[in-house]
Amino acid sequence: MEFWQNRLRCPVCGASVEKRGNSLFCTGARSHCFDFAAEGYVNLADPKEAGGGDDAALIAARTAFLDGDYYAPFADALTAYLQDVPQDGVAVDAGCGEGYYTCRFARAGRPVIGFDLSKRGVRAAAKRAKREDLPALFAVAGIFDLPLNDASVDAVFSVFAPVAEREFLRVLKPGGLLITAGAGPDHLLGMKRVLYEEPRRNTPRVDLPHTMKQIGSETVRFDMKLPKEAVATLFAMTPYYYRTAPSAARRLLCLPCLTTEAEMEIRVYRK
Ligand SMILES: C[S@@+](CC[C@H](N)C(=O)[O-])C[C@H]1O[C@@H](n2cnc3c(N)ncnc32)[C@H](O)[C@@H]1O
Ligand SMILES: [Zn+2]
Repeated sequence: MEFWQNRLRCPVCGASVEKRGNSLFCTGARSHCFDFAAEGYVNLADPKEAGGGDDAALIAARTAFLDGDYYAPFADALTAYLQDVPQDGVAVDAGCGEGYYTCRFARAGRPVIGFDLSKRGVRAAAKRAKREDLPALFAVAGIFDLPLNDASVDAVFSVFAPVAEREFLRVLKPGGLLITAGAGPDHLLGMKRVLYEEPRRNTPRVDLPHTMKQIGSETVRFDMKLPKEAVATLFAMTPYYYRTAPSAARRLLCLPCLTTEAEMEIRVYRK
């Protein structure tokens, strides 16, 4: 049996789904059908939401930067939380992008379902997992209305992505974990020092869970020495790319290398 069987549900009518041939069929009266793409992902998005999420250029930049493993200390810290997930448990990566972290979770020995509204992201993620034959399923879907049964998964990761607390609570089993991760106050301050005369520290997130019980937190800090190409791809995947004057961007992109802090905050909640 596939690891996602009895967990995924039809996004239209909520009935259970089964794989027949290269499609998912729901067991509801209307037998809704969702085809797997050649890359191995399935589109379960509400057509009203489809087409949302990150665009091709952003995904290409993120893939290029993340594949350099500059964020490896952070990825390792996240992956370590899988030790608290039962051996036969399943994790979800909500807002998985192009699956860099999702595939690391799958390599660590727990099956993972990655959801993202960006079809391009999910396609890249599915290709990545297929290359290594990892226990991962990727679906295009919005994280505020996941095509998952109630109390069906053991952990939800939310990495640099919106936090849909109510939905995560619905799909987590009792005792299941929610692991959120985002930028800390000093994240990429070295890059901001080049871009801005008065660089500001990041302000605290306002969308963190407020009803779930927080059971832990961790700040991961390290310095990154980035070659020119990695500076360009990192810059292109940050919000500063869209808000910086061209002259300041040129100043950054002309540097032969850049040393900057990375600071990520991880928070852990239990249902
Ligand atoms: C900053 S990216 C992080 C991607 C990945 N977790 C990573 O860290 O590499 C945020 C991701 O959330 C996705 N996203 C944003 N809103 C979403 C929603 N409502 N449902 C599903 N995905 C969403 C975007 O498409 C994007 O891939
Ligand atoms: Zn259905």
